[in-house]
Amino acid sequence: MNSMPWWQSTIIYQIYPRSFQDSDGDGVGDLLGIIERLPYLVELGIETIWLSPIFPSPMADFGYDISDYVNIDPLFGTLDDLDRLIADAHAHGIKVILDLVPNHTSIEHPWFVESRSSRTNPKRDWYIWRDPAPSGGVPNNWLSEFGGSGWQLDWLTGQYYYHTFLAAQPDLNWRNPDVRAAIYDAMRFWFRRGIDGFRVDAVWYVIKDEQFRDNPINPDYKPTSPPNHALIPLYTADRPEMQEVIAEMRRVSDGFSDRLLIGELYLPIERLVAYYGRDLSGVHLPFNFTLLTASWRAEVLADLIREYNEALPPGGWPNWVLGNHDRPRIASRIGEEQVRIAAMLLLTLHGTPTVYYGDEIGLKQAQIRPDRIRDPVELNVPGYALGRDGCRTPMHWDASDHAGFSITESWLPIGKDYRERNVARQRSDANSLFQFYRTLIALRRGSQVLIRGALHSIRAEGDILTFLREHEQERIAVALNLSAEPATVSRMLDESDTCILLSSFSERRAEILAHSIELGPNEGIILGRRK
Ligand code: GLC
Ligand code: MG
Repeated sequence: MNSMPWWQSTIIYQIYPRSFQDSDGDGVGDLLGIIERLPYLVELGIETIWLSPIFPSPMADFGYDISDYVNIDPLFGTLDDLDRLIADAHAHGIKVILDLVPNHTSIEHPWFVESRSSRTNPKRDWYIWRDPAPSGGVPNNWLSEFGGSGWQLDWLTGQYYYHTFLAAQPDLNWRNPDVRAAIYDAMRFWFRRGIDGFRVDAVWYVIKDEQFRDNPINPDYKPTSPPNHALIPLYTADRPEMQEVIAEMRRVSDGFSDRLLIGELYLPIERLVAYYGRDLSGVHLPFNFTLLTASWRAEVLADLIREYNEALPPGGWPNWVLGNHDRPRIASRIGEEQVRIAAMLLLTLHGTPTVYYGDEIGLKQAQIRPDRIRDPVELNVPGYALGRDGCRTPMHWDASDHAGFSITESWLPIGKDYRERNVARQRSDANSLFQFYRTLIALRRGSQVLIRGALHSIRAEGDILTFLREHEQERIAVALNLSAEPATVSRMLDESDTCILLSSFSERRAEILAHSIELGPNEGIILGRRK
């Protein structure tokens, strides 16, 4: 068997550290909390964890505003705690990925404090400073992703600095070689400490137009869309020079053995795949977020899976994501009846799957009372359903007060249904979603055809999505009923010795099928050779 890099066969689990497990009773999750829960991740079958930022930060954007790239915020613990987490995770066979935020720092980062102190400061050029327009006001029309202009006037020196996100997150100037070197040093610092890779935040934003040209007006803009959609981000995102940046980052990671780079990218498929880089010299996995927004219909999904498959560059390894800390929870988006179908899709497609914490027990998007809203996006740009608190609420571990997450009130409220929906309860119920995830993950981990097999014959038959996976002599067929009506599809495998390897209704396991396949409402099945 050809050996493949670990990150092609792995299953990634995203932890939002503030909300996974609190160990010191301050209502915020932390590193020791994650260490405590490693056995849970082993039980689930997870092989890689990715932690959202844990570095020192004033938390204007909950850690995505970093004030020191090479330390740990006391809220989460210490460098020693992280060393222990890496060692313990590795001892459990789990890889550890950290978040790298190269596009911007916190306004409190010493680099920015220096940079803003005078026009002649040696770090002035580490950020993007511009004079006001000749007629006064902002230098050009660039908008912030998080509301309003992207330019913030700094009174002291009379210039504006640019921020893709919050004004408290000034953008670094990636055209300055010293900035690049400083971020690459931070990468090496963590690689030396033993981490297995980075998820690179907002990587399609790092380089902006050198001439600072105005972004064009978006002719399709509707007043009901968020204000930043009024312009097309032609000159502020996905610039051609990004190729250089991702290739350099890749060279840094290739200086260590077996490390992984994942890029965060909200781009159409044909642009997304550019981040594999020329001759695969970019990130190993440009995050594929197409399932986060796709409407949940067989035909739509079949089209996008096919389109993604065809767009991949030769040798480019695919990946799939169902949820993250920026988008509504899958259970609320597609409905509770479909969560097993979503899990089956994620874990039977070709490519590295990423599971968002809590989706394995069906956590729902929480409704947050106005006085408990914490997300700066919801506070800055209210009314567009952009708020991210609802997908960041604490993990439900058990039915005790504070859901086993903490011994005190948590930073965001616990989901209302935690007494019924929690890990303890689902662990002791053989038919629970948690047990279903475990079985599915075990099936994938034990199956070369699910890990490596080519993906083809992707079809929509009415509300049923079907596809085949094939590796050497082995074939697996997947049929997913996306509707609440029973339905029939024609037989997908010819072999006489095939049976149901797994159904979302457990009682059908091992059933042998005749000429057609009957699916119950919301049922998914995986067919393969009888063992
Ligand atoms: C990424 C993160 C998001 C953050 C933003 C700014 O999109 O996923 O949570 O707010 O970058 O750093
Ligand atoms: Mg804590």
